[in-house]
Amino acid sequence: MARITVHPFLKLKANTLKVPGDKSISHRTLLLAALGKSNTIVHNLLLGSDVLCTKEILKQLGVSIIEDGTTMQVTGVGLRGLRAASQDLQCGNSGTAMRLLTGLLCAQNFQSTLIGDSSLSNRPMKRVLTPLQSMGANINARQGEYAPLVINPVTALRAIQYQLPIASAQVKSAILFAGLYATGTTSVTEPLPSRSHTEEMLIDCGVPVEKNGSQVSLLGPVESLQPPKEWTVPNDISSAAFFMMLPTILPNTTMTFLNISISPSRNGILEFLTKLGTSVTILKKTETTADVTISFSKLTEAPISLEARTVAQAIDEIPIIAMMAACRNGTTTIRNAQELRVKESDRIAKIVECLQAFGFFVREFPDGFLVEGSEKSIPPSTVNSGGDHRIAMACVMMATRASGPIIIEDTDAIVTSYPTFLQDARRLGFELYEDR
Ligand code: S3P
Repeated sequence: MARITVHPFLKLKANTLKVPGDKSISHRTLLLAALGKSNTIVHNLLLGSDVLCTKEILKQLGVSIIEDGTTMQVTGVGLRGLRAASQDLQCGNSGTAMRLLTGLLCAQNFQSTLIGDSSLSNRPMKRVLTPLQSMGANINARQGEYAPLVINPVTALRAIQYQLPIASAQVKSAILFAGLYATGTTSVTEPLPSRSHTEEMLIDCGVPVEKNGSQVSLLGPVESLQPPKEWTVPNDISSAAFFMMLPTILPNTTMTFLNISISPSRNGILEFLTKLGTSVTILKKTETTADVTISFSKLTEAPISLEARTVAQAIDEIPIIAMMAACRNGTTTIRNAQELRVKESDRIAKIVECLQAFGFFVREFPDGFLVEGSEKSIPPSTVNSGGDHRIAMACVMMATRASGPIIIEDTDAIVTSYPTFLQDARRLGFELYEDR
């Protein structure tokens, strides 16, 4: 099991950062390109192991993908051209791969079995099975709710109008993928907006998706998808978020994060940084990408609590938000974040455990936590990430406040979402070592 030792951060060595491609958008780009009818060249695909699982699974399902670094040529087989795989389909650590593929594969006339690693095999799948089964899907799950998922062939699906009990882009996307094949209007209504990439990218593929307030609908069965001939994945705001901590800590620092994915459904981290008192400038490059510049400023000492909507828009950034919150004088409260209990780890428990190990007062709630932050330095500490990539990377960033080495155990999973994290950290001035 890998472990990282990171020494106190001394000096920022670069002011710009270009992180790798967006994970959520990379999965969807591959899936939709595979369902098109011709060649799509995908640029800047994330080579994180989560996305590589989706790529390998599509190949097993008969899709040709020619790889050249982060560029891939995907030869679409059409909505009805996927073929049965001869083996189980390995989703690794990726909830997005498993849930989106369940929506797609439950509409096919062949059987598939989706499997995952030990974390994914214990994450809840009933949230996708319930709506898909009511569309007519035939899926067997371990104990009715966990992977392996055995997806049996069906001849037809029917459309449903589904009210999501929780805001989840993965569940919404699974239903929309199945809805491409179902007869009638499939609609999904969300309690709070989750990331909107699937509906937006379906529109880019020529599918008439309607958005009406909190509801997204499409009329099936859809005949064909026309993905763009060239598709460029923007850089991942969720990866950039870790290094956004630097200008909140280091006086007189400005950093620019190049070409990152910008969507109102994902901007909660920028809202939090603004609440903290840092200056955030968004220079739009296209409708969905921007260079984001963050400059140091004296941080507020007033209590901060995030609204439920902002929490949903920053759901993957809560681990690094927790670390930033701990490093400023003042109390920060995050509630309405119960979804964090069922991510790659129980992130609420892990955040609380790590902040306590760093010496902060933290109170745990069923749906969040409160941290009493301070600008004091952190003593040498050892924490365990629980195999969770975002917990591991968030803890590395605490070197900016440390008075001695911080050791983070169980860090292999960083490659799932940010395979060049250690290189980027070193380029910016972190002194860190990885033992395996
Ligand atoms: C994702 C959706 C989010 C997020 C995950 C990626 C996606 O989960 O946490 O990392 O790509 O659809 P939810 O399904 O809970 O929104």
